[in-house]
Amino acid sequence: MNKKIAVYPGSFDPLTYGHLEIIQRTSKLFDEVIVAVADNLSKKSTFSIKQRLDMISQTTKHLKNVKIKTFKGLLVEFMKKNNAKVIIRGLRAVSDFEYEFQMSLMNRRLYPDIETVFLVPDEKFIFLSSSLVKEVVRLDGDVGEFVPDVVEKQMRKKFKKRGISHSLGKIVKNLD
Ligand code: COA
Repeated sequence: MNKKIAVYPGSFDPLTYGHLEIIQRTSKLFDEVIVAVADNLSKKSTFSIKQRLDMISQTTKHLKNVKIKTFKGLLVEFMKKNNAKVIIRGLRAVSDFEYEFQMSLMNRRLYPDIETVFLVPDEKFIFLSSSLVKEVVRLDGDVGEFVPDVVEKQMRKKFKKRGISHSLGKIVKNLD
């Protein structure tokens, strides 16, 4: 049988409930879902590729048809290697549309066999983004309703460490 494989690409820096919800919806629609974590974005990432993969695999372990992989370079090359023809993207708001539209057309130009399927997230998560969640944690706000526990713990650990080295840096500067 030809398995229907969908690829959900992103930076997942880190994964939020918004991403998880899209993964869950996709896992009901396809035989296999590959969460493809981009490793060469122009965007500087907060979490290492290993940390991002670990957080996603801990959060999705109950979904038996979900695999997590990392990729470098073009998404379409990753699709070919994995024998996948469907890209999944979440459309949160009209503002996502233009970028998504361009990306989808470019990907199709690069690999005409591909289709991009857009899923509409639960409205609870429409305003969510990884950067916003990081900002709330940095400012010591509560993010329990936006990210899984394991992600929240990792974020608190990371920003606490940074906070300490930032404060130490300030102390050393003041001593100079
Ligand atoms: N719920 C919550 N947040 C979501 C979300 C959802 N359903 N969907 C997207 N987001 C957030 C992301 O967390 C991210 O937030 P941030 O900017 O604060 O970190 C933001 O929305 C943008 O996410 P997304 O649009 O998925 O971009 P991305 O940077 O995560 O991933 C790639 C983009 C990796 C898919 C794309 O750059 C790519 O394919 N790169 C490979 C190279 C390539 O082939 N380039 C040619 C493409 S045409």
